This record gives sequence, C-alpha cells and structure tokens, in this order.
Amino acid sequence: MFRRRQRIQYKTSEQIRQMRAAGLVVAEVHQAMRESAGPGVSTAELDRIAEKVIRDCGATPSFKGYDIGFGPYPASICSSVNEQVVHAIPSKDAVLKDGDLLSVDVGAIVDGWHGDAAITIEIGTVAPELTALREACEASMWAGIEAAASAKRLGGISHAIEQSVERSGAEHGREYGIVTGFGGHGIGTEMHQDPHILNYGRPGEGPKLRPGMALAIEPMITLGSDETAELADGWTIVTEDGSVAAHVEHTIALLEDGVWVLTAPDGGVERLGDAAASAARAL
Ligand code: CO
Repeated sequence: MFRRRQRIQYKTSEQIRQMRAAGLVVAEVHQAMRESAGPGVSTAELDRIAEKVIRDCGATPSFKGYDIGFGPYPASICSSVNEQVVHAIPSKDAVLKDGDLLSVDVGAIVDGWHGDAAITIEIGTVAPELTALREACEASMWAGIEAAASAKRLGGISHAIEQSVERSGAEHGREYGIVTGFGGHGIGTEMHQDPHILNYGRPGEGPKLRPGMALAIEPMITLGSDETAELADGWTIVTEDGSVAAHVEHTIALLEDGVWVLTAPDGGVERLGDAAASAARAL
C-alpha cells in the first residue's frame, strides 16, 4: 500500500526548550480556566481571560485567526460543552451551568514555537458517569504519553490510548466511543504537523518514534457513538448521537532519555517517573 511520505520536523534540544516556554504559557491558561470556569460564566468570558493570560506572558494565541480554508477562527480557546467534542467557538450566549462537562483547548506561540493542550473541567457537580468519562479520557492520554517513552512506532501510542479507553470502559460496564474523525498531531513551528495520531491502532504501525519529535496527544471519547458531525458555524464538532464527550491534550517532546510533557507544569515527572526525560526533571 502506498503511504505518503511523512514530513516530520525533528527538533534539537534547544528548540524543544523553546517549545517548553510555549507549553508553560498554555499550562498557565489552564490554571486560569480551572479558577474561572463555573456555573453562570460564559465561554466568551473564559476566552477573554485566556487571551489576556497569553498576551500578558508575551505570547500569541495560535487559534485566533487560524484558517483551514473557511475563514479565520475567531477566538483564543475552543470551549466545547457536553455533546460538543472539539473546536466549539466561545460565545457570550454559552453560559456554563451546573453539571456541564467543558473541554478548554488552548494554543500559544512563543518565539515561533507552539504549545497546544486541552483540559476537561467539571462545572459544579456532574453526573458520576461524566466524572468517569473525564477520568477515562485523562488516563488514556497518560497511557499514550507513557507509551511514547517506550514504543518503537507511533502505533504504539495509538494502541495504548485505545486499550486504556477499553479498560476504563470495562471497569464501568461501558463501551466508550473513541472519536474516529480527529486525533493528535505533530507540532513545532506550526500547530499542526505530521504525523497525524489516531487514538486507536496497532503497535507495529506508523512512523518510527525518534528523539526530537514533538507530538500533541489528544484523545476524544464519548459516552456513545464514535461518529461526529460539524455544525453550520463550520467549526464546532459534536457527537452524532448527542452523547457527552471528553477531550484532553498535552504537547510532549521525545528526548534521548525520555519524554518531556511540555504543557504540564511539572513536565510530566510525577506521572511518568523514570520515563520522564532528565530535562523535565532539571526545570
Ligand atoms: Co491539538
């Protein structure tokens, strides 16, 4: 079978250090989002706060003006509530309410280098199955990040995410949907680079994992269908069956001696232990 040659941008350790600066800005925005999101707050207000944090850090919001051919994205975050999976545009009419599950996705650029990460936040008190869904999504992201430290090929990451989602589902007597239409991506001097990273797959597949790769790992899972639809605004992706979705994301870098989670304040050290790169430990 023919496969397009992957155009992967391999970074030097100095360049990865620059990406860490962007990652820390994103982490700071996440902290602000956790502190600000709650019942009665609109997603437009969250966007305003996020943009201020990004600019106060001397960084540039990467989503604002991003154009995939249908016109520029108008905001600095994507704020996807409940059945919205990703890419929902903040709005003053989208007022959060108790029980909502919110994904906030943020991208920032520092000196030309990108950071991109998302968190899922519970608004007030959510139904137990939504907490389980959020936890399953987070666990699968970390399973993928851990696999990045040891897997030979990209498929090892995808496979680890898929297996983790299945395991979490089984623990709750459920089968979560793993969204098929979207996935993670390479990242560097652009937000979206090769390779595309499916959230399911087989260990032997895909390009070889090598030091210098920077990857955005972003599982999207649902309480129901793995199929999605796009709303008329040209951006918002919703589950096709209206079931609630969760989405989390970290930007990571592969170094000679391990993984550096660039968008985690602690570099991923606590979660990864020995699999964390020494550079992550040093800062
Ligand atoms: Co991303």
